[in-house]
Amino acid sequence: MDKFVMATANPNKIIEIQNKIGNKHQFLSLKEIGCFEEIPETSDTIEGNALQKARHVFENYGYHCFSEDTGLEIDALDGAPGVITAHYAGENRDANANMDKVLREMQGINNRKARFKTVIALKMNSNEYLMEGIVYGSISEVKRGNDGFGYDPIFIPDGYDRTYAEMSLEEKNKMSHRALAVAKLKTFLDNYTKGPF
Ligand code: IMP
Repeated sequence: MDKFVMATANPNKIIEIQNKIGNKHQFLSLKEIGCFEEIPETSDTIEGNALQKARHVFENYGYHCFSEDTGLEIDALDGAPGVITAHYAGENRDANANMDKVLREMQGINNRKARFKTVIALKMNSNEYLMEGIVYGSISEVKRGNDGFGYDPIFIPDGYDRTYAEMSLEEKNKMSHRALAVAKLKTFLDNYTKGPF
């Protein structure tokens, strides 16, 4: 069994990924390898931040590591909030304030196209892999729905007339940007044998 660190302090994310990917590999949290420092995320791209975290763990702790980073990119806002999705309206990372800011900036704008993007970066020895999950959609005029988190109440995936927050968690988790990226990671790891990595 191979060990991979997932660069998160959140034990629920480890359980979720272990359930999805199965027991062929073992996933460790940052806590389990004794990594308690704040890992820098200073890149100006989502891809860069995901890679930065995976590299930090590999270089300082010697484990294969993957890390994920997610952002909402809105066409009419030139790709914002993008890399600062989590703290678009300020350092306290308030989801309602973030959505209110987006809705304010989108007032009167007809082009409401947006996309949610999750990038998983995997660092294994000298190799680096990026796996991306994108869901295209649009920004609603007002917040709708009570489920989910973050920007869920204002994001309507293409092909649906409901926001992410109006879907059950089960429905969202089958088709979300994160699910698509994790599916790519699963395919990669299913095919991974100790080899030229
Ligand atoms: P992270 O990279 O997973 O920490 O995500 C960054 C930010 O994107 C979060 O703080 C949320 O605001 C937002 N976000 C990530 N995934 C989702 C989602 O599935 N729905 C709504 N917002 C999300």
